[in-house]
Amino acid sequence: KTKVAVLISGRGSNMEALVRAAQDPACPFEIALVLSNKPEAGGLITAAAAGVEALAVDQKPYGKDREAHERAIDAALRERGIQVVALAGYMRILTPFLVNAWEGRMLNIHPSLLPAYPGLDTHGRALSAGEVEAGCTVHLVTAGVDEGPILGQARVPILPGDTDHMLSDRVLEQEHQLYPATLAAFVRGL
Ligand code: GAR
Repeated sequence: KTKVAVLISGRGSNMEALVRAAQDPACPFEIALVLSNKPEAGGLITAAAAGVEALAVDQKPYGKDREAHERAIDAALRERGIQVVALAGYMRILTPFLVNAWEGRMLNIHPSLLPAYPGLDTHGRALSAGEVEAGCTVHLVTAGVDEGPILGQARVPILPGDTDHMLSDRVLEQEHQLYPATLAAFVRGL
């Protein structure tokens, strides 16, 4: 099985969906590591409870030196023989160092139908713009934020009266289906 590390910064519900999918014997990947840049990330607790190694590589001691922090992350990934990295709510923009080190082997999930609404507050902006459809995208990570080749998308309607919260819940449900399916297809093609 392909060894996958999931990088998180918070809740980790997409990480949980990946861990659950990997429990199926037919799944082509295993989650060998869950890594957070924030030691307080709730996802570290759920990962450990699911029997997955959960590691904090705190960004704080590195201050503004994002590359030094990423070198520590990269070392942790390589020590464990990680083959593919899945960003799942990892909320720190990567430097070219980590992007280049994992080029073609790092995926991200983003809560919009890219190329629409890259960056933050995707649901709020889609609602303000009067969009009638939203969704999520799994893509390969390249130097441009939220710009890499698209591997999969799922769509949901925007309904009259939707709040940010209602829309993000509807999209998140799709994220939890899309990410495991897209990652499985990706590693089968490696
Ligand atoms: C997810 O909706 C993910 O798509 C989004 O953060 C949430 C993390 O939730 N990612 C981004 O906005 C990346 N720019 P989770 O921690 O429960 O998976």
